[in-house]
Amino acid sequence: MEDKKIKIEDEVKSLYIHFPFCKHICNYCDFYKRVPSEAYNVSSFHNLFNEQDVVHERILSTRGLKLGGLETLYIGGGTPSLWGEEGARFLELFLRKKGLELNNKGEYTLEVNPGTWTDKVISRWLKAGINRFSVGVQSLDERFLPILDRVHTLHESFELLDYFKGVELDYSVDFMLGLPNSESLQRNVLEELDKILFYKPSHISLYILTTKESYIHQKSLPKDDWIAEEYLKVSNFLIERGFNHYEVSNFSLPGKESKHNLRYWSLDSVAALGPSGTGFLKGNNGGFRYKWNVHDSRVKEEVLSKREFELEKIYLSLRTFRGLNVSDLFGKDNDHALYSLIDEWRLKGYLSSLENERVSLSPKGFLLLDSIMDDLFREKIV
Ligand SMILES: C[S@@+](CC[C@H](N)C(=O)[O-])C[C@H]1O[C@@H](n2cnc3c(N)ncnc32)[C@H](O)[C@@H]1O
Repeated sequence: MEDKKIKIEDEVKSLYIHFPFCKHICNYCDFYKRVPSEAYNVSSFHNLFNEQDVVHERILSTRGLKLGGLETLYIGGGTPSLWGEEGARFLELFLRKKGLELNNKGEYTLEVNPGTWTDKVISRWLKAGINRFSVGVQSLDERFLPILDRVHTLHESFELLDYFKGVELDYSVDFMLGLPNSESLQRNVLEELDKILFYKPSHISLYILTTKESYIHQKSLPKDDWIAEEYLKVSNFLIERGFNHYEVSNFSLPGKESKHNLRYWSLDSVAALGPSGTGFLKGNNGGFRYKWNVHDSRVKEEVLSKREFELEKIYLSLRTFRGLNVSDLFGKDNDHALYSLIDEWRLKGYLSSLENERVSLSPKGFLLLDSIMDDLFREKIV
């Protein structure tokens, strides 16, 4: 089996845990999630998690690996804040069983939704070692909450933001762009972001809504040009307010980038547990990706060859402000083609900088990342 040949570092220092429950299923969301029922609830999830853990140990140990010295942990959803105090206790037991400790240098994030938390619950997660939160706000314009089928009120969003402002913790806010009826209702996303900044998040994620053909509001989505304008407008606005646009959909105050997500974008190893969690183990000569089945403790495996690894690495490095080291692309017969492409991108305003042999994209370049990748293929540079 090809993946056995991959040599992998021995400690995996990042872990993603997927918690699959929500109070309500929003009409646009494509993540795996369920409303708890008698047939499938938190205790079924705990059983599945424990079964996965046994299989996971094997996945790691057959590759000479184990979880260790956790530097980043991300508990995503679903709505992990619904896991409550019971979840914090479960996490503590799990970490103890594994001989893992969370420390004050690591980044350990929990997703929290408005209306699904109490002061006591957050304090319990803090006690378990969580030190960063990610809040699902999506919009601060009351008119868009029912369109998005959100189950919380605007008041609940402000309550949560106010709480995090008060405790002075690092936290991030999720927002969405390109919402249905944005044009007709004249959504003013800058006004919403201005309100958000009052609550001092250190990080903001801004995702352009992606939908299926069958989406209930498909006909009311704004046009691509309108969305592009909205995206560039928010990027400008947040940069003016001191944020770095450090990844296609992510902004942070300097030094407050998500360490966990940067590992994905650098193709570093990140283990995963929980239904539909996806882990990646980096090797010297490629990598191994595994995605948990949602109902049992089996995984879908994907072995990345050297070439696939390199291509992903190029794509992912262009997603972040670190950019791509152009010298990684040299050495074939295409140096000239690459230089002309870089020049073309510069003239079109796709580059934010070209320093020390690194190409990094501007917000306009981020928006056109796919066509930039197409250019590299067309010119046979990759
Ligand atoms: C794992 S989800 C978090 C779910 C969380 N329970 C919530 O509803 O806020 C992470 C983020 O992905 C974004 N997201 C979810 N569905 C999306 C979609 N179809 N298109 C773009 N972004 C989406 C939302 O901003 C969401 O907060």
